[in-house]
Amino acid sequence: MRGKFITLEGIDGAGKSTHHAWLIDFLKRQGREVVATREPGGTPLGEKLRALLLSEPMHIETEALLMFAARREHLDKLIQPALAAGKWVVSDRFADASYAYQGGGRGLAPEKIMALESWVQAGFQPDLTIVFDLPTEIACERLAKTGNAPDRFEKETQEFFERVRNTYLQRAGAEPGRIKVIDSRESISNIQKLLENIIVSS
Ligand code: ADP
Ligand code: TYD
Repeated sequence: MRGKFITLEGIDGAGKSTHHAWLIDFLKRQGREVVATREPGGTPLGEKLRALLLSEPMHIETEALLMFAARREHLDKLIQPALAAGKWVVSDRFADASYAYQGGGRGLAPEKIMALESWVQAGFQPDLTIVFDLPTEIACERLAKTGNAPDRFEKETQEFFERVRNTYLQRAGAEPGRIKVIDSRESISNIQKLLENIIVSS
């Protein structure tokens, strides 16, 4: 039986990495074979593209094209084969991030993103997407506390992240069956319970 494809989304600092690790562990405890991955990245070539995307200044269309180039490789080399083998795949980000960051954040026309999406994904979509939603000022405070050097996206303005956040919420409103929103102001343990409920009822 084909596995399930779950993606985690949200603005930087919303808690994806924290809950990605927990979710993988939870699914394994349920007896699933699980593959943990991320975007941009997930393959040797994708990780090279990630390094460029997170550091090099570039035209917004170059940025969108490289995100989808990495995604093409990710689908072909990792996501599709794992799902076909019955494994579950949990990715820290996928195509909703392109709509939120390149579309909402940078202002690239959604039609251009849709064209790339239909070329690269040919109708393929996650079975379940979880958006970790957090006010931008709290995300910014949480990121500052980590002490990690900000990458090219994390250096963006609060207005940029407001647009990214709003795009995620608009997409969740338009596709409530696939996209579930979690309030990331909740404690980590409460969020784990919410995640468990979403997985069990999906
Ligand atoms: P992301 O991967 O979305 O950028 P992280 O998972 O790295 O976010 O979380 C950013 C920081 O916020 C980390 O230091 C993490 O420990 C902390 N954090 C995550 N979730 C919560 C939460 N629900 N409450 C308080 N702090 C949190
Ligand atoms: P992120 O996944 O947040 O990694 P980390 O938690 O290690 O910082 O970093 C990836 C960045 O890439 C993030 O700022 C969002 C951005 N991104 C896009 O702009 N478009 C996309 O399609 C994807 C997948 C990511």
